[in-house]
Amino acid sequence: MNKADVIIVGGGAAGLFCAITAAKRGKKAIVLEHNERIGKKILISGGGRCNFTNTGATPKNYLSQNPSFCISALSRFTPANFLELIHKHHIDYFEKKDGQLFCQTSSKLIVEMLENECHDAGVTVMTGIEINTITKPDSFFIKTKNEYFKADKIVIACGGLSLKKLGATPFGYIVAKDFGHTLIPSRAGLVPLTWNQSDFKKYTALAGISTPVRGTVNKQSFEESLLFTHKGLSGPALLQISSYWNEGDTVEIDFLPQEKWDTLITQARTAHARQTVKNWLKSFFPERLAEVFNNELALSKNLADLNKADMEKLQNFLTRFPFKPMGTEGYTTAEVTLGGVDTTELSSKTMESLKTSGLYFIGEVVDVTGWLGGYNFQWAWASGFAAGNAV
Ligand code: FDA
Repeated sequence: MNKADVIIVGGGAAGLFCAITAAKRGKKAIVLEHNERIGKKILISGGGRCNFTNTGATPKNYLSQNPSFCISALSRFTPANFLELIHKHHIDYFEKKDGQLFCQTSSKLIVEMLENECHDAGVTVMTGIEINTITKPDSFFIKTKNEYFKADKIVIACGGLSLKKLGATPFGYIVAKDFGHTLIPSRAGLVPLTWNQSDFKKYTALAGISTPVRGTVNKQSFEESLLFTHKGLSGPALLQISSYWNEGDTVEIDFLPQEKWDTLITQARTAHARQTVKNWLKSFFPERLAEVFNNELALSKNLADLNKADMEKLQNFLTRFPFKPMGTEGYTTAEVTLGGVDTTELSSKTMESLKTSGLYFIGEVVDVTGWLGGYNFQWAWASGFAAGNAV
């Protein structure tokens, strides 16, 4: 029988950070990870350079059925606090844009940093562990394939459903249900949206083209780049939008986000009256995109010859393009899982279950999901820190 003060299930960002925090307080902490190594998702994150935090992270950058839940944890462990650790380990980083901090060289450095912190604090990390059951007669008993573990506190840090190939399982949700918790239905977030049949035929050939847009759905807008793919639309703008998109919703795309339409078209018609719509489109978009747009618009006229209806058609197409996705690419490409353990049944200060004392939920398994841009790791660190200080 292995005994500890706290057992953390899941050796990802949240679980490791919780274990380090608890061990620094003198607690005997064991991390149980079913993969053969810890921090697999950290390794591939941020294109291999891990966007480990966002200096501008506020509760507004998170989605949850209970939006105020994340305030406490985020305010008690801030991006500046995480940066202190980055500085302590001499990890070079850079700001890509809008507060997004990435490793200069490789996300391996973040995993090494966490491993070193675990080592120095005395955390026991066990990998390749297959958990069969978790029960709580008095303390928690964890039965694995070969061993038993006992602890007064356990922390569930198993993440969500995104990327099975990296070890994602529904285990956290199963434990939550077993202990009487409500689950907010899960769905893929930060995920490419797929074409419906008719758009597929029209636009699939544009795969690889990127252009700046403003995407809007359910009153939420993001101004970033959009990427055409064979299957649909991706790129930062559409990934952000996907987290706010529900089946059946139409996404409105403004392909001219920096321009004021009335000024733009008036100036164009004055200065380039004899220019064709097709050539005018080429001044804004890559050639292939301009041609496909021109075919769709079917306005083979000069700018000066456009009538009121033509102008309306052009404006709607370019600034209010209606994209009705068939769906999303799902958990095989999603960066995050929306939904999860209902936060109204957790303490926002400690992450402890309000139903079963000694049981904690942190990181992505909880119904708190960040935007693209380092916000999800910041939630993992902050929620891990909150629980690590309470166990
Ligand atoms: P995480 O999924 O990291 O860890 C859970 C751990 O539990 C895993 O190690 C898993 O193997 C383990 N586990 C699961 N089931 C288990 C079981 N039954 N028994 C034992 N262990 C089990 N975010 C960000 O802020 N910046 C970024 O750059 C990126 N980039 C990025 C790229 C890609 C491709 C993806 C998929 C995701 C991102 N993210 C991101 C999101 C970010 O990776 C994610 O939000 C955090 O890793 C969540 O941390 P957790 O520790 O909660 O879960």
